[in-house]
Amino acid sequence: MEVVIAPAGELARLAADAVEGLLRGNPEAVLGLATGSSPLAVYDELVARHKEGLSFAGVRAFMLDEYVGLPADHPERYRNVIEKEFASRVDLAPGAVKGPDGLADDLPAACAAYEASIADAGGVDLQILGIGTDGHIAFNEPGSSLASRTRIKTLTKQTREDNARFFGGSVDDVPRHCLTQGLATIMAARHLVLLASGRAKAEAVHQLVEGPVSAMWPATVMQLHPHATVLVDDAAASRLQLADYYRQTYADKPGWQGL
Ligand code: F6R
Repeated sequence: MEVVIAPAGELARLAADAVEGLLRGNPEAVLGLATGSSPLAVYDELVARHKEGLSFAGVRAFMLDEYVGLPADHPERYRNVIEKEFASRVDLAPGAVKGPDGLADDLPAACAAYEASIADAGGVDLQILGIGTDGHIAFNEPGSSLASRTRIKTLTKQTREDNARFFGGSVDDVPRHCLTQGLATIMAARHLVLLASGRAKAEAVHQLVEGPVSAMWPATVMQLHPHATVLVDDAAASRLQLADYYRQTYADKPGWQGL
């Protein structure tokens, strides 16, 4: 696991560099997209690079998760958020972005179909991730099986409170359920790139990088991934015991070695 501690703007550029490097080598790469606030600067950076010529025309993309039951036209439905924040701003082909169907009549069947569509695409090459203050990735809340696949989950009170800011501050308006890629689904992606900023994420980032692997802090499963990159600002890094070592490692990193 590589930990990079840098200002937020640089973190977004580094994540965009990883995506751009992937697409230059394989214009038909498969991206994994997160929602929430953490990846927004990355999407802005990718949109800027698209204006300079970076094409997403051959790319397919899979979303991490979706709320259950939000109306199709609800602005916080993750499908609509991704369309607004990223897909509509680049040249992704119509239908190139897929997400779990939180409006399906048969939710377990929708989850199984989603797993099959990721497999049919050959798996995810690069997965962008954020982390919840309770240590979730996607919506794998504490207690999630480390072997889990796409399924329905109940959001914790903490996550609903954290996300109330997207629903006019009203916790009651945040759905109680979601469909989410499982931890094993995420772990099958070939490169994981997680972004975190702000002091509220410091404990979760500490556990993710330095804690014991445990379902209590689901993101810790990333310690078992052969290619995981954790991009954090100073505040999110403030509880890391080995912060000086991570800084030194990054400063001394060979120039030829990308993320
Ligand atoms: C969203 C998702 C979540 C968020 C996490 C952090 O698709 O998968 O795991 O990444 O809740 O959210 P922000 O970035 O808003 O702090």
